[in-house]
Amino acid sequence: MALEVINMTPRIGSEIKTDVKTLLSGSEATNIRNILEQRGVIFFRGLDIDDAQQVTIARTLGKTVDSEGEGGIYKISLDKNVNARASYLKGSLFWHFDGSLQPYPNLAALLRAIRLSDTGGQTEFCNTYAAYDALPNEEKRQIEHLRVVHSAERSQYYVNPEMSYEEVKFWQKSPTKTCPLVWTHQSGRKSLLLGATADYVIDQPVEQSRALLARLRDWSTQPQFVYRHEWQIGDLLIWSNTGTMHRALPYPLDSGRLMHRTILAGEEPLL
Ligand SMILES: [Fe+2]
Repeated sequence: MALEVINMTPRIGSEIKTDVKTLLSGSEATNIRNILEQRGVIFFRGLDIDDAQQVTIARTLGKTVDSEGEGGIYKISLDKNVNARASYLKGSLFWHFDGSLQPYPNLAALLRAIRLSDTGGQTEFCNTYAAYDALPNEEKRQIEHLRVVHSAERSQYYVNPEMSYEEVKFWQKSPTKTCPLVWTHQSGRKSLLLGATADYVIDQPVEQSRALLARLRDWSTQPQFVYRHEWQIGDLLIWSNTGTMHRALPYPLDSGRLMHRTILAGEEPLL
């Protein structure tokens, strides 16, 4: 069955209509990957698939990371009884991309809605290619060669602003990583690399560095670059992790909201 693509906004987010058989067969996989790279976020509605089918579909699109979760499925919940790392996941309420500290950040992630909160819990995505492209040329030149130190510690201040000495020392055990502010991809396209782990710009005074990172985040998350997904049970959504940032909107921690995630391994080094 051919794909029907419906763009949700001009710059980011598309619904794709097709059937489960087409997705499981992988016959449109190349096409889907191209749409994902261009649109940042794609989703399928009303497919009625199970965990095994989710993983099968993921494997038509890339290499899955099976070390996390059972059988390639990782349960996203803020309930400590469901996910032992629930408190860490509170960081997902702030703009970020996954794996900024890894040598190969995830290519993409598939998220399937199992249970929803009555209120909140939407996921927002911003297109960091489009945000870069829309910058004035003069600004592109100014930021082209800047490098940014990313740290797990920095992202924890969003969740826990008054960390104890022990907590600070704990998060500082994770090695920091220096990334370009502008990521030139193997395709030649460029995107902005920001997010909650972005700590400071190398060789800039601290005030200038913080102001620049905040200003570029504000820029990238303007409405014209953002798609907000209003979840329905059964939605299978895929986001490009190398060309977007994402965040969940707040929802009650006892709401039972549950997502099943499958990760596609990174294919492009971030140096
Ligand atoms: Fe995330």
